Amino acid sequence: MELDASQAVGKIATSLPGAAAVFRSHGISFCCGGSDSIEVAAEAAGLSPETLVDELQGLVDAASTEAPDGTADLIKHLRTRYHDTHRAELISLIPLAAKVERVHGDHPDAPIGLANLLERIQSDLHSHMHREELMLFPLMERGDHQALTRPIEQMRHEHDVEAGHLAELEHVTGGFHLPDGACNSWRALYAGAKKFADDLVQHMHLENEVLFPRFTGGPL
Ligand SMILES: [Fe+2]
Ligand SMILES: [Fe+2]
Repeated sequence: MELDASQAVGKIATSLPGAAAVFRSHGISFCCGGSDSIEVAAEAAGLSPETLVDELQGLVDAASTEAPDGTADLIKHLRTRYHDTHRAELISLIPLAAKVERVHGDHPDAPIGLANLLERIQSDLHSHMHREELMLFPLMERGDHQALTRPIEQMRHEHDVEAGHLAELEHVTGGFHLPDGACNSWRALYAGAKKFADDLVQHMHLENEVLFPRFTGGPL
């Protein structure tokens, strides 16, 4: 993954593990200001673009270190650490979001629409991960490179759609910022939703940058 200051912060925040936290720490919005380049966003935040690129480059260097070397082991890791975890977490996050919206709907910071957004993500991921498990991963384990070109393109496209949903998640929660006096449900919801979002970025990063290039010769 190559970084330069012309890239859009929205794309980096949703594809590079840890980048969202870096942008938040500098007060850089990557949902509403997602189309801004790193250069524009850094200058608006009072930073030099080189400093911000260097900080993000450190994340690139660290991002793939958890990936097991062998393809079968990497696929097993993706299934257990990410697919199974996303499924379990979304099952509990959706009713929790609905509860917070219902109880605190008149609060100006209430995350209105969050339960619906999480349901859309759940529906997309259910289908996406099912097809990876039933079709994509078995082809990879058989080493069938030729049959993988189109499916990998499709999966990359679906990852981009989920990156858009992650930007919506950032927007609807105000960057997971809790209002003063937030109740325990609201706190649990934002902690859980942030952990889910961070996991999804890492999951898609491992597929886009580590797994898929083994079958396509490099990022498309
Ligand atoms: Fe996956
Ligand atoms: Fe995927």
